[in-house]
Amino acid sequence: MLTIAYTSEKGGVVKTGSTTMHAVLLATALAAVGKHVLVFDIDPQGHTGKLLGHPREKHVGPTIKDVILDETGAVTIKDVIVPTYIDPETARFVDVKQATGKLVRGPDLVPITLAANTLDFDMKSKLDYWPDRIHEILQPLQEDYAYGLFDCPPGLLAPTMSVYSAVNFLAFPITPDVLGVEGFQGAVSAMQRAQKRNTTLRAAGAFFTKVHTWRTDKDVMEQVASLIQQSKLDVPLFETTVPESKDYNEAITEDGSLVVLSRPDSKCARAYWYILDNLLERVGGPAQPLIKSAVTAMREEEQKAEEERKLSRKVARKGV
Ligand SMILES: Nc1ncnc2c1ncn2[C@@H]1O[C@H](COP(=O)(O)OP(=O)(O)OP(=O)(O)O)[C@@H](O)[C@H]1O
Ligand SMILES: [Mg+2]
Repeated sequence: MLTIAYTSEKGGVVKTGSTTMHAVLLATALAAVGKHVLVFDIDPQGHTGKLLGHPREKHVGPTIKDVILDETGAVTIKDVIVPTYIDPETARFVDVKQATGKLVRGPDLVPITLAANTLDFDMKSKLDYWPDRIHEILQPLQEDYAYGLFDCPPGLLAPTMSVYSAVNFLAFPITPDVLGVEGFQGAVSAMQRAQKRNTTLRAAGAFFTKVHTWRTDKDVMEQVASLIQQSKLDVPLFETTVPESKDYNEAITEDGSLVVLSRPDSKCARAYWYILDNLLERVGGPAQPLIKSAVTAMREEEQKAEEERKLSRKVARKGV
């Protein structure tokens, strides 16, 4: 299992949205070859579960909190995993028991509930050595999943730092504003500290989310690029940015779905494909060739549409 944690010290930079979009793209691409993806919701807000059709208030049974705090092995990670399924007709997550038609397997979910609000305190006060705890609980899953994606909460408390000690890669969503950049810098410093324990930990990449066409967004994005260059950080910064877009929220509120499923042709959905392709250039794994060929086809189609637009503008000008 290749593991990637989506992280920032700052809240609201689209850690959850990015984790969920990428988990869904990976799971649906790999469904055809019988490989699976697991998403760990580490944030007690439970937003990953909500976006995947498994809201925390409806969850019954143990959660990641119980697995982390139980060192006896009575509750294992496999006891808490919940599968998700997508109805390709409606692009919605559905309850497998109520579904009638053919379903596509979505990512499996390790859920969390509000009870995990105390997890930082509990880990520090109840566990023998909390930094290794997530690493330990991942071991039984290594052969079952091709990818494990972690949605980290904002801040750099024990659950997040234990994730940094366990995973192969970090992905950094950044909103192009001063506070978004500070959140990125805080997470990069924490990665550098974690690399002392987890020596193979690397950045898979950084990317901007909720980007406007405003000049200040452009300025901040340029500042981040030169900061990475000047500090010689080993963090690839991707050219593709996710635009702030009504498609993103309309997909959730109107379609009851996700932008990558119900509005796959939108700029926002395409951005998530392109960024995933960029991330996989470092991460690798069985989805890489699948995502690469889908993205190549999408880019060719976009280029063709752009050429047609140019041609029709030229024809229109000549006609005037
Ligand atoms: N491309 C987009 N266009 C418009 N709104 C967006 C876009 N991406 C995300 N949002 C909105 O931004 C908000 C923050 O996104 P999200 O919850 O994924 O961030 P987060 O970093 O996980 O936040 P938290 O730190 O609270 O966990 C959400 O309300 C979401 O609907
Ligand atoms: Mg979140």
